[in-house]
Order: sequence, then structure tokens, then C-alpha cells
Amino acid sequence: MNARLVVLVSGAGTNLQALIDACADPAYGATVVAVGADRDGIAALGRANAANSAIPTFTVKVKEFSTRSAWDEALADACEQFSPDLIICAGFMKLVGKAFLDRFTGRCLNTHPALLPSFPGMYGVRDALAYGVKVTGCTVFLVDEGVDAGPVLAQAPVSVYDDDDEATLHERIKVSERALLVDTVGRMARHGWSVNDDRKVRIGT
Ligand code: GRF
Repeated sequence: MNARLVVLVSGAGTNLQALIDACADPAYGATVVAVGADRDGIAALGRANAANSAIPTFTVKVKEFSTRSAWDEALADACEQFSPDLIICAGFMKLVGKAFLDRFTGRCLNTHPALLPSFPGMYGVRDALAYGVKVTGCTVFLVDEGVDAGPVLAQAPVSVYDDDDEATLHERIKVSERALLVDTVGRMARHGWSVNDDRKVRIGT
């Protein structure tokens, strides 16, 4: 089976690019069937258009809806059109809500530039640096109704250097993050996954 991936983005899209590149190998077991965004004019959408056979894109902006839940429903509808096996938030800077999760819980994942449960939220890199940790990293996890709180799929450590600033540390984390995301999604696509009652995720049998 070739898993159908819908990737949600808000920015540079280097994680998206890593997935697109991985999917070029049929043995990877997945295809990016659509890229969705919450805003126009971002590099990530350009990456979808520039892909070998251009990947369909859609944009669903919060400000075009009278309520957040209407936006959430519209985003879920847009994703559903592409019959995804997995929805991947790859630098998608919006929290999805109940309507979305009612349809996609257990098959929507996110990537975060810190070792959760440490440093959740928008400023995971900045907060880790400010705390003074010597090791931080990245986490790929299943999305639930919390903020960066869902079951963990995979993590990788990244050293913090004395002369790091937020930008240098984030760039180094992103190298690990892309590799972790590609590895995790590929294993899920090829082997399946399950989540047990105490939120432990197992990829494969
Ligand atoms: C990643 O570090 C992601 O974890 C964070 O924003 C970054 C997105 O990078 N939320 P990109 O757009 O995939 O290059």
C-alpha cells in the first residue's frame, strides 16, 4: 500500500521538502497527495508547485471564517477530499480543533523542535535556550486536543552549544527534525501503527 499524505504548512516548508524527496523513492511507501496551508505566499506552497509532478495545494485561512470551529471544519473538509491515510503538520502554525480531530485523531501527526513534554508551544527553541539546557531536540507526535501534548512517536536529541542563538540552534534541530520526520512517516506508512490505552505508540507489529 502507498500511504496518502496530506501535509499542512505555514512557512519555509523544509520538512515538506524532505517528505517530497523521500516519496520519490517507491520503496518509501508514501506519496504527498496534497499540501494545505493557512496563508498564501509562503515558500512551502512553492515547493509543492515545483515538485516533479506538481502537488495539489489548498489554502484555508482563519480570517475567512466567522468562527474558529467553522475554519476547523473547512480545513477538515479540504483534507478529506484527498482521502489521507496521514495528515502531517509540518511547521503548521495553527492548532486544529475538535471537528478536525473527530475525523483524524490517530492519523494526524506534528513535529516540534524540542523534546516534549519540555518546552511545548510556539517558542520551543527559545524557551530551551533560555532555560539553559545542554540537550534539546525534536519530537514527532500524534496530535490531540492539547498543545504539543499527544502520544510521542519518535524523538531525537540535539546538543546545545555555548554560542548558540535561537536561529543557529533551530537550524541544527531542523536537520534532525527532517530526518526524524521522514523516518517516522516512512515506518508508519510501511508497517502501520497503533496507540494503546496508556498512550504508548507502537509502529509495526
Ligand atoms: C519546524 O522546526 C517545526 O517544528 C516548527 O517550525 C519549523 C518548520 O520548518 N514548528 P519548515 O517550515 O518545515 O522549514
